[in-house]
Amino acid sequence: MGYVGWRPAQEVLVNGLRRLEYRGYDSAGVAVADGKGGLEVHRAAGPLDNLVAVLPDDGVAGTASGSSAALRATTGMGHTRWATHGPPTDRNAHPHTDATGRVAVVHNGIIENFAALRAELEAEGVELTSDTDTEVAAHLLARAFAADPDAGLTAAVRAVVARLQGAFTLVFTHAERPDEIVAARRSSPLVVGVGQGEMFVASDVAAFIDHTRDAVELGQDQIVTLTPEGAVVTDFHGETAKTRPFHVDWDIEAAEKGGHDFFMLKEIEEQPTALADTLRGHLVDGRVVLDEQRLSDQELRDIDKVFVVACGTAYHAGLLAKYAIEHWCRIPVEVEVASEFRYRDPVLDRSTLVVAISQSGETADTLEAVRHAREQKARVLAICNTNGAQIPRESDAVLYTHAGPEVGVAATKTFTAQVIACYLVGLALAQTFGTKYADEVAREYAELESSTDAVARVLEAVVEPTRALARELAQSKAVLFLGRHVGFPVALEGALKLKELAYMHAEGFAAGELKHGPIALIEQGLPVVVVMPSPKGRAILHQKLLSNIREIQARGARTIVVAEEGDETVRPFAEHLIEVPSVSTLIQPLVASVPLQVFAAEVARSRGYDVDKPRNLAKSVTVE
Ligand code: G6P
Repeated sequence: MGYVGWRPAQEVLVNGLRRLEYRGYDSAGVAVADGKGGLEVHRAAGPLDNLVAVLPDDGVAGTASGSSAALRATTGMGHTRWATHGPPTDRNAHPHTDATGRVAVVHNGIIENFAALRAELEAEGVELTSDTDTEVAAHLLARAFAADPDAGLTAAVRAVVARLQGAFTLVFTHAERPDEIVAARRSSPLVVGVGQGEMFVASDVAAFIDHTRDAVELGQDQIVTLTPEGAVVTDFHGETAKTRPFHVDWDIEAAEKGGHDFFMLKEIEEQPTALADTLRGHLVDGRVVLDEQRLSDQELRDIDKVFVVACGTAYHAGLLAKYAIEHWCRIPVEVEVASEFRYRDPVLDRSTLVVAISQSGETADTLEAVRHAREQKARVLAICNTNGAQIPRESDAVLYTHAGPEVGVAATKTFTAQVIACYLVGLALAQTFGTKYADEVAREYAELESSTDAVARVLEAVVEPTRALARELAQSKAVLFLGRHVGFPVALEGALKLKELAYMHAEGFAAGELKHGPIALIEQGLPVVVVMPSPKGRAILHQKLLSNIREIQARGARTIVVAEEGDETVRPFAEHLIEVPSVSTLIQPLVASVPLQVFAAEVARSRGYDVDKPRNLAKSVTVE
């Protein structure tokens, strides 16, 4: 968030950050003018209250440091962080400054080429004081501004963004331009709040709707220059840019949720971004790279067996890892819920890789499974959404899902991000083992990238019809889910979502098992969701599922079929057809899961339940 105007900036920023805390809560910071031609920056790891405790407060609380001039400053910026590069510590918290402390920057996103930029700056003698990708932007801005101060701050920002690759939404301030804030957007959202003699910029309108409801949404690759008098928007080349002004009529609660009733619905919509952010920066010079690797390539090459351990939804992502890793790497993969794995005496040694998947990185069973594996000398690779959490800390290698914080207890965007991360791990192993050539890896990676668009298309096309269907079926006694091959974990996940949110009896089955028991559950009017494979893939699987649908239809089931667009053969057997884009086999679970998430959320809402906080459940289960 950034502010220029007439109110005490620090207060405006802290109140704004409180509204944005759901976007990140591992650390926070503010920077305001210090009244002496410099900036005063305060940062603190942990929740926003930790920052508030160290801010100047007229000395009333006695704990604060800093100058009271900062209390009078009317220009400033603030940030709540969700760590991507570097653990959530004081020094990695934003804002970041240049060496003179006269430039400050806050950032959302991932600067992909930060390592090269860091090296360049270090070669010039610049000392970097954090582990973040963000800090380079502060040094680059200082350098660009110093080169031609008369050209102004906006021109300097333009020069900086031209050097950056990846996703970056940045807010800059420079002590020499005390009444100016310049922000740039690529990827992560940015909205300007237009007040009377004051201007705001923030990741979402929730930050400023106490002060103004007039807003302008910045488009991709735009820069906004804010002064108390107004906002000027240009593109990355300095040309005047078109913007979209709008009036916010949401209440504050809805604003935080992007206009939805529940965070979960917002998080479902954030999936294309979560996937793109998770993939970003992992293909470097034709090689798939992990975020952290404390193992040598040789140690990885010695792996001859993989166990995937996780709990809940993360376990379902793990089931999909098996299909990808076995297919690409030709080594055996076993997937197990963490609580079973660790008490079973699994056969582990130094050539075993244990892949631990956990959104929170703190789940007790998964953590204990990691510890058990390490005691047996197995190597551990973590897939985690929380930078610096316990599981990645205790692992030999880490790949982070960059889904951002997830507030809804039921995992959605972190699930699809985990699946993509599992595939990345599969590709990284395939290239290490030599079971895939570089060009094959690059092709598969491009396939993974295409999932972003495919999921965006599902969201556009299926959300409304699926919600209508959910309302129609909301009072059902039970719902069954069937799938085969990669559709099987999707069925399990669809059933889990419905169980946890709608408190409805829901079971997922491998369709091939139907005749071995589940078919006895079919009775007149029972809704059964069937996840169809592509007719273009292995035709035999498609055929078999068609037969399964006929079998349940003959016994009175209501068939809800998730199938590929243009799959005409299934149409006659589907009472409700949910069409998803045609994608490759491994991407199919991503597109097929989305309607099932929407379905569960809407059934729960129709039944009057709190979608974000289902009864008896916790987001992070830190006890066994
Ligand atoms: C809880 C949550 C689930 C989550 C599971 C594993 O049960 O409600 O949404 O999938 O924990 O959590 P983790 O943080 O380890 O992924």
